[in-house]
Amino acid sequence: MYQITADRPIRWGFLGTGGIAASMAADLHHGNNMLYAVAARDADRAAAFAARFDASHSHGDYRSVVEDPDVDIVYIATTHPFHRDQALMAIDAGKHVLIEKPLTLNAAHAREVLTAARDKGVFAMEAVWMRANPLILKAQELVAQGVIGDVVAVHADFSIEVQFDPAHRLFDLDNGGGALLDLGVYPMHFAWLFLGRPDTQQVLGTLSPTGSDATVALQWGYDSGPTAQLRCATTASTPGRATIAGTAGSISVEPWFLNPRRLVVTTSEGESRVDGDETAYGPQIEEVERCLRAGLLESPRVPHADTIAILELIDQARADLGVRYPGEA
Ligand SMILES: NC(=O)c1ccc[n+]([C@@H]2O[C@H](COP(=O)([O-])OP(=O)(O)OC[C@H]3O[C@@H](n4cnc5c(N)ncnc54)[C@H](OP(=O)(O)O)[C@@H]3O)[C@@H](O)[C@H]2O)c1
Repeated sequence: MYQITADRPIRWGFLGTGGIAASMAADLHHGNNMLYAVAARDADRAAAFAARFDASHSHGDYRSVVEDPDVDIVYIATTHPFHRDQALMAIDAGKHVLIEKPLTLNAAHAREVLTAARDKGVFAMEAVWMRANPLILKAQELVAQGVIGDVVAVHADFSIEVQFDPAHRLFDLDNGGGALLDLGVYPMHFAWLFLGRPDTQQVLGTLSPTGSDATVALQWGYDSGPTAQLRCATTASTPGRATIAGTAGSISVEPWFLNPRRLVVTTSEGESRVDGDETAYGPQIEEVERCLRAGLLESPRVPHADTIAILELIDQARADLGVRYPGEA
């Protein structure tokens, strides 16, 4: 019903004109895609964004984009607390949706959104762009081929230094503040790709003065033996390299595992490198286009079940740390 087979650009409608919206708009030249419409809470800001990125339509309200029959897919680029309602509005209007990470504030809301998309027969995906990156896919392929043997350990850390400011979205609980939802999703999805759902999760962390999670260290355990050490923080930057260690070698994903430039593979035969280009959001955009033209309701690169499972683990970690968002039970 919603398959887009015609050889014409996929017409994107953006909700929100902040930092990530600009980064995605700059990469929409990948594949056969175009920014068609954009909405912001402020009509002038939407118009300025549309002018900057060559969109033909701009609006001062989100509903106008969602209800525009010429928009194929709605990209939700607002801050996390607004993803759920905006996604439900778009899905209800019969639109495909790409929703920024984290899909929603918690797993219950993610189930609600993804169930609604499935019931409506529209495509939905959490924008975990790392999972479409060619070098990440290459690392998965090497592991599946047994190049490093059985995976025994994963390490990944995404931490940045942000000066504490109670109004900054990373610290403001009303705006979904916290390291886990903003940064932690990446090391968690990374470990998930190579080890899957952990049998146990242990959490250490500290809170900022507003009660948002500021530093979080997660230890994932697997009954069959492997472990994963994952970390995220808003208090200090760390190198951002990740490693996958196996019984016969290791892969280092460098220099920044979210958007790597190279894999360094070490086995008993020595060290080899797989180099890649800086790809940013292009592979994610191309994956969404591929899914829409094929009539898929979810991307095999970012399955709905993984999105929900990672949010369940974040729910558990937040409960252990005592981080609760307004309106949550
Ligand atoms: N994939 C990635 O690499 C990546 C990178 C950064 C962020 N993200 C994700 O993308 C989302 C947006 O992050 P960002 O850094 O782009 O955020 P941002 O620039 O601070 O805000 C994005 C937009 O959200 C809306 N918004 C912000 N604060 C609001 C508030 N208090 N009330 C109502 N609406 C508000 C605004 O929309 P209007 O323009 O309509 O006013 C704003 O332009 C987050 O969920 C984040 O996790 C992803």
